[in-house]
Amino acid sequence: MADNFPFPIPKGWFALMAEDELAPGQVARVEALGKEFVVFRTESGTPSVVDPYCPHLGAHLGVGGTVSGETLVCPFHGWRFDSEGRCTEVPYAKRIPPKAQITHYETRLVNGWIFVWHDPAGSSPNYEIPAVPGFEDAAWCPPVRHEWTIGAQFQELFENICDPAHFLYVHQTSTFPESKVTFAGATARSLNHATMPTRKGEIEGTIDAYTIGPGFGYVLYDIVTDMLQITSSLPLDDHRTMIRHEFRVREGDRVGPALIRQICMQMGQDIPIWENKTYHAAPVLCDGDGPIAGGRKWMAQFYNDQ
Ligand code: FES
Ligand SMILES: [Fe+2]
Repeated sequence: MADNFPFPIPKGWFALMAEDELAPGQVARVEALGKEFVVFRTESGTPSVVDPYCPHLGAHLGVGGTVSGETLVCPFHGWRFDSEGRCTEVPYAKRIPPKAQITHYETRLVNGWIFVWHDPAGSSPNYEIPAVPGFEDAAWCPPVRHEWTIGAQFQELFENICDPAHFLYVHQTSTFPESKVTFAGATARSLNHATMPTRKGEIEGTIDAYTIGPGFGYVLYDIVTDMLQITSSLPLDDHRTMIRHEFRVREGDRVGPALIRQICMQMGQDIPIWENKTYHAAPVLCDGDGPIAGGRKWMAQFYNDQ
């Protein structure tokens, strides 16, 4: 909970919606990052994220607002705004007031998700979400999604990848996963040689997990089968995080779905720890622990006051 964690919502790219949840021409209101947004896609498909209230007389653009061509039309007096939030037309006026601009946020559509750049200090993005390797592979089955709303901040969840020891106790694996975590810019990579218990016994392979800032990650599984996982972590406010895992497996693959069940079960095992733990700024660590300090140093770049 917020009282047990000292840092604010981090800055970074966060996925507000999946691309298939908002067709071109649609408008949605989304509560996340401690506030409310209006997300719309123009008829050509360009996504845009703006503040909800019209600069004219304050109508909520997500309640009755519509898309016309490449603009969002306010339901109250029909002013039109482009995907950058600029007013392009006031149908009953001779000139557009120069301040007719909705607060607009940097938006990206990548890997099938609509991302917004969040920084309360108003900085421009200092990293980008890369295209996930293999994402465009036509041989993947349609993605399967699982989501959780967790009463903890992203950093507590992220520390899992710097903490191989918890697997033995929280996830009851028989061996300590062999993992190497490296940090470079906004990316943290955890390459694991792991065993995964299945109904057919334990299987071995690699799990290559990339965390790109506090809002996005992907995992390349190579354990008997191959599987792709994309993860969105979206802070709803300063004490709740929505995690969405999206899995892609191969047609006819039976190992992948077993792996997905295992991963979801492990989430269920982690959640009570995350939701009830406290954050120790100076934890007592031992020589068998993972790179907790390295993970915290990496995470610090996403907080403005550190
Ligand atoms: S309040 Fe939006 S056009 Fe008047
Ligand atoms: Fe875990």
